[in-house]
Amino acid sequence: MDIIELNRLVHTPIKQNIGCTIHNTKEELLCGNLSADLQDLLEQRGVLVFPQIEFTDAEQVAFTKMMGQFLPEIDGEEVYNISLDSKVNRKSEYLKGSLYWHIDGTMNKRPIGAAILSSKKLPTWGGNTEFCNTYAAYEALDDDTKRQIEHLHVAHSAWTTLFYYNPEPDQTKLKEMMAIGETELPLVWTHKSGRKSLVLGATAHHVIGMNWTESASLLNSLREWATSESFRYSHEWKLGDAVMWDNTGTMHRAMPYDPDCGRLLRRTKTAGVEPII
Ligand code: OGA
Ligand code: MN
Repeated sequence: MDIIELNRLVHTPIKQNIGCTIHNTKEELLCGNLSADLQDLLEQRGVLVFPQIEFTDAEQVAFTKMMGQFLPEIDGEEVYNISLDSKVNRKSEYLKGSLYWHIDGTMNKRPIGAAILSSKKLPTWGGNTEFCNTYAAYEALDDDTKRQIEHLHVAHSAWTTLFYYNPEPDQTKLKEMMAIGETELPLVWTHKSGRKSLVLGATAHHVIGMNWTESASLLNSLREWATSESFRYSHEWKLGDAVMWDNTGTMHRAMPYDPDCGRLLRRTKTAGVEPII
């Protein structure tokens, strides 16, 4: 009789509400036996850290394919350069928005499912990537607040993010960003699993039908709550680290760094399986 050896996931939590370090070897991760357990753990912990796993591009693509339906970039690229250097990323201007808390792809019909970043060159200073758990932040709200926000909808747009990094854009730039469109999303996302998470971030403009001062105050207070210490993890990169996040139950941002320092992360992603409803 063949002896089938099943690999076991070896992991330790990072903080009570977010993050998990995975200690398995690259070979164990790439053999595929652990994928289902890793998917569950990702949904529970929001962020998985693979310290100095040193994925090549091909390994990162293979691993991403084991974690969901692989989603290439719009122009077909499988692996994408995250860099503020315009020589390395033609759309680096757009990435300036990633310095503020956000969910990737809120303007898509389905936001992306999960993403993986691998560190290829470290920043000279700053440049941590921060994550917060929007499931845990929702669950810890008091019942009155949960009732108050239950049925609210929020207007989201890419152009809202423009004003974070370019407060006085020229009209051509604003029109270009406005052409991406606008969408209305629930403030509380009820997932197929029944779990609920907050939908916030730099694309959120205002709460539909609410006085604009009240709306700004509510969105800001929820952002402050969701990104506060107990729901937040700040990843300080070491060369070769890979970090994966569940984009449907977290927000993330880059911390400031010298745009000319060469900091380089390579990103892959999986398609989202459910719309925000
Ligand atoms: C991203 C992103 C943050 C970073 O890749 O979607 O927001 O730290 N990256 O560069
Ligand atoms: Mn992002």
